[in-house]
Amino acid sequence: MGSVILGTGSCLPKRVRTNDDLARIVDTSDEWIRTRTGIQTRRIGEAGDETYRLAAKAAEKALSMAGVAAEELDLIVVGTITSHMLMPSTACFVQKEIGATKAFAFDLNAACSGFLYGLDLADQYVRADASRKILVIGAETLSTRTNWEDRNTCVLFGDGAGAVVLGSGSQGRGLVGSNLRSDGRLWSLLHMHAPVSNNADLEQADNPGVHIIMEGREVFKYAVKAMETAISDLLAREGVTLDEIDLFIPHQANIRILNKLVERVGIPLEKVFINVWKYGNTSAASIPIALDEANREGRLQPGTKLLVCSFGGGFTWGATLINW
Ligand code: ACO
Repeated sequence: MGSVILGTGSCLPKRVRTNDDLARIVDTSDEWIRTRTGIQTRRIGEAGDETYRLAAKAAEKALSMAGVAAEELDLIVVGTITSHMLMPSTACFVQKEIGATKAFAFDLNAACSGFLYGLDLADQYVRADASRKILVIGAETLSTRTNWEDRNTCVLFGDGAGAVVLGSGSQGRGLVGSNLRSDGRLWSLLHMHAPVSNNADLEQADNPGVHIIMEGREVFKYAVKAMETAISDLLAREGVTLDEIDLFIPHQANIRILNKLVERVGIPLEKVFINVWKYGNTSAASIPIALDEANREGRLQPGTKLLVCSFGGGFTWGATLINW
């Protein structure tokens, strides 16, 4: 039996950075950012908003909604590309923060698809042993890895975290299936270098430092096509028609990607959850934050057929179908 999402939670830094704020840092404008990306504001972390702290606060809210104690957790998976340290994992920091003494914990790097990859992995653990309780988190402080001098990228990203608690489902409810993909040949179109190597022989050529580098137009093209195919393949495999989908939560990258995807998939806009205008692209955190907001707004009820999809660096992408 597939796993059910027992609770959701999210945590966003309080500090809001507007498009006008960015126009004071780089040569851009509110009008350019709104029309090209749909983003109006994003949240930028301050002291106390480290990736693991945002993650732990989101986790506590999800646990509280689920009625599950931290000590009951068997596993913590954190999807992130902005880990607090290289070692230990952000998941281990979260474990310490919330007191999940029984769990084992690790991070997963699949960029913006990190949450969906983690959800699928956790689902397999629950299918193997229905007594398991698992915390899946997407958490990022992309502001720490944004090149604040590059107007092509710095307007797109934001910080935040979202979490879900998974447990075994009752008949007819739960995660139906996932269609996850990646293509490492396309890595260079969206990537972030490692810190400078202490072994000169293994240094990456022309390492510009640790920040996001992106070929925006290429990413746009691949993202729309890949998510569209992942969705149609998944629906065909599961024998579900588009009409049956009640809510669609795509990765919140930017409004033009979302509009193009929605048009190509052919799903009515009123069935699409969009919050990119207020948070920007929060990478692995975007889907669990949107899930939590949709849930707390009452848009996810038992029986709701939910479709989720993502695309990110790697390239990594995928789609997941859930009977809420
Ligand atoms: N303000 C003003 N001008 C800008 C800005 C800015 N912030 N950024 C770029 N420009 C300029 C460029 O320099 C360029 O000027 P030029 O013609 O004088 O060289 C011009 O605007 C057009 O640049 P393009 O890159 O061609 O602009 P485009 O219309 O493609 O929009 C964008 C750029 C928004 C990045 C778009 O390519 C896109 O949405 N790509 C997808 C990227 C994305 O969402 N990545 C997130 C990670 S992956 C994911 O989550 C799916």
